[in-house]
Amino acid sequence: MSNQVERFQDPGLPEHVHRNADVDPKAAKRAEQQVAILFLLSAVGTVLTIVSYIIVPKDKFFYLPIMGSTNVQQLLLGLGLTASTLFIGLGAIQWAKKLMPDQEVIAERHEFRSEEVDRAELVETFKERGAAAGLGRRSLIKRTLGLALGLVGLSPLLLLRDTGPQPKKYFDTTDWSAGIRLLLDPAGTPIKASDLEVGAVAQVLPELPAGTERTLENTGKDAVLLIRLRPEDFNLDAERLSWTHEGIIAFSKICTHMGCAVALYEQQTHHLLCPCHQSTFDVTRAAKVIFGPAARPLPQLAITVDSNGYLIAKQPFTVPVGPSFWERNSSNG
Ligand code: FES
Repeated sequence: MSNQVERFQDPGLPEHVHRNADVDPKAAKRAEQQVAILFLLSAVGTVLTIVSYIIVPKDKFFYLPIMGSTNVQQLLLGLGLTASTLFIGLGAIQWAKKLMPDQEVIAERHEFRSEEVDRAELVETFKERGAAAGLGRRSLIKRTLGLALGLVGLSPLLLLRDTGPQPKKYFDTTDWSAGIRLLLDPAGTPIKASDLEVGAVAQVLPELPAGTERTLENTGKDAVLLIRLRPEDFNLDAERLSWTHEGIIAFSKICTHMGCAVALYEQQTHHLLCPCHQSTFDVTRAAKVIFGPAARPLPQLAITVDSNGYLIAKQPFTVPVGPSFWERNSSNG
């Protein structure tokens, strides 16, 4: 019996099936119109984005059954951006599948390394051109060109500064201070400990002095999550435990990674999850980070009750809320 392995037969390509648009001009026309409609929808999405950014006030809210109080501008921006990117992608897919050239091409594999003679020729050409350009003689040009090429790569770094305003001291203060009542959001009503069952979560905002308008910016950095556990579930030091009230603990809702709203609470594990990059905070251990890119726990707000039994802040946040940023003083969290 021979040890020689029988050569594998090249099965070749299956028979080419032509698409409708390849053989029927009417189908091609229809496909073209479909692609055009998708691109037009994308354009409408972009116009919607720009118009909503310019004319819809930033602090306009309305009530949506599933989402609750919703910022109109953010909703329209989201819809507009989604439409503009989604439809441009769908249009490109449709175009490629139905109209772009549908030929099968066989690319033969070959050595990547060029032939010795070609390589030598390339080196020769470089030398010749370099000599012709007088680079060897013109050392001033050679050096300044090196400097220019070396520095040109630095300019994009400067542009990084334009990626957004620096927060500076913006996150250092919020509207929380001693004695400020916690108001349920969006109802705007004060809350008692008995209003929260064990396992419940509520979002609250500080009660502002009469006549003070709540701005979108402040609503963002003031937002606090209240969570009620059984007191024996906590694993806190004495000071942090004294910041809780009858099993209710309060944390800033802004993720310490990049500032998304931390909104998912797992009742069984007592974990708070940020939906953006899955940072996970352990509520029983003062929102210690147990997974994900966040580098700091969520700041805890010390709470207690007033003489009428309503929940109030004991003091302002002791560390800045929000994401870690360059100007943050690392000694204060
Ligand atoms: S913003 Fe929360 S994990 Fe990134």
